[in-house]
Amino acid sequence: KTERTLGVIKPDALLKVGDIIQSIYDANLTITKAKMVTLSWKQAADFYTEHQSKPFFNNLMQFVTSGPLIAMELMGEEAVSVWRKLLGPTDSDAARKEAPESLRARFGTDGTRNAGHGSDALASAARELEFFFPSTTGRGPPGTA
Ligand code: CMP
Repeated sequence: KTERTLGVIKPDALLKVGDIIQSIYDANLTITKAKMVTLSWKQAADFYTEHQSKPFFNNLMQFVTSGPLIAMELMGEEAVSVWRKLLGPTDSDAARKEAPESLRARFGTDGTRNAGHGSDALASAARELEFFFPSTTGRGPPGTA
């Protein structure tokens, strides 16, 4: 079925945006929203709240706040799993062994600096899309809560 997911090009892969968009097209996904943003530490901690107590959390925060990233809404048949498959295994070194064509194998550095992010399920996709692309329907005029 047709799904929407959040795709992120992390700061280490920003200059590879051309190659990554080509791979997205080749996988029959459509980019329906996109923006470039630099996250504050607090925004990054909110986004990755489920990892707060992990040993790699501080490294992850340091990395994802180190420069601009590109957030995209990707749409297509089985978009959640198709995008995660394109990314490959979380650890870039594992990706180079197990999925050498994947984006993390091609553009990632290690377990933390891994070129991209993808929502892991439909529910997290909805939450993560709302984080980067808040819905504006049902809200009052600007300046009201
Ligand atoms: P991502 O798919 O964005 O989800 C959480 C991120 O934390 C992950 O990609 C990596 O950037 C980082 N990460 C996950 N696991 C580890 C780990 N074991 N060691 C270091 N960083 C990790």
